Amino acid sequence: MKFFVDTADIAEIRELATAGVVDGVTTNPSLIAKTGRPIREVVKEICEAIEGPVSAEVTATEFDGMIAEGEQLASIAANVAVKVPSTWDGFRACRALSERGLEVNVTLCFSANQALFAAKAGAAYISPFVGRLDDIGLDGMEVVREIRAIYDNDKSFNTQILASSIRTPRAVTKAAMAGADIATVPPAVLRNLAKHPLTEKGLVSFLADWGRTGQAIL
Ligand code: E4P
Repeated sequence: MKFFVDTADIAEIRELATAGVVDGVTTNPSLIAKTGRPIREVVKEICEAIEGPVSAEVTATEFDGMIAEGEQLASIAANVAVKVPSTWDGFRACRALSERGLEVNVTLCFSANQALFAAKAGAAYISPFVGRLDDIGLDGMEVVREIRAIYDNDKSFNTQILASSIRTPRAVTKAAMAGADIATVPPAVLRNLAKHPLTEKGLVSFLADWGRTGQAIL
């Protein structure tokens, strides 16, 4: 499973990229708004910082506007993936933009049927929002499992499952087990994947024992 980082914070992205753990980036209008900067500038910088796909979302809600904004966003850099919502117009825009050779990420997906539509519309990525389904008392990961089964049943689909709205390290494990191709993870959660209290504890006792030997490896 690949890791995308779910942020528009360029400093975070650069730092995580040097650790070699970033296969791509996802942004959304809320994340761009948090930077307080123009979207073109932010997306351009992110695209220069990493080689993988960088999702940038349209804000139009009707087909024509989505196409115009999608083309505008795609003109920023070759690695932009245009994000469109899981709506009727979004699926139509997905088909049209995909036919023009652009990568499309269908976002705000909350059901397997929306994912089915996205795959039929030629989406490169489908983004089921696991955490937001959990927030309303449903099992977000169940939707990921359903999408995996549906995509595996139809070999003509070429859409990657991008598990989104991932808020905990445990959700990353579950997404990998459910068959997600990618998980997009906020920077803090990504860093926490490396941590375990028993690793910290074990290291302290190993180093204490080692200190008593008076040895040095170098
Ligand atoms: C994905 O593309 C979205 O930006 C993101 O995962 C949404 O996560 P949230 O539900 O924690 O805001």
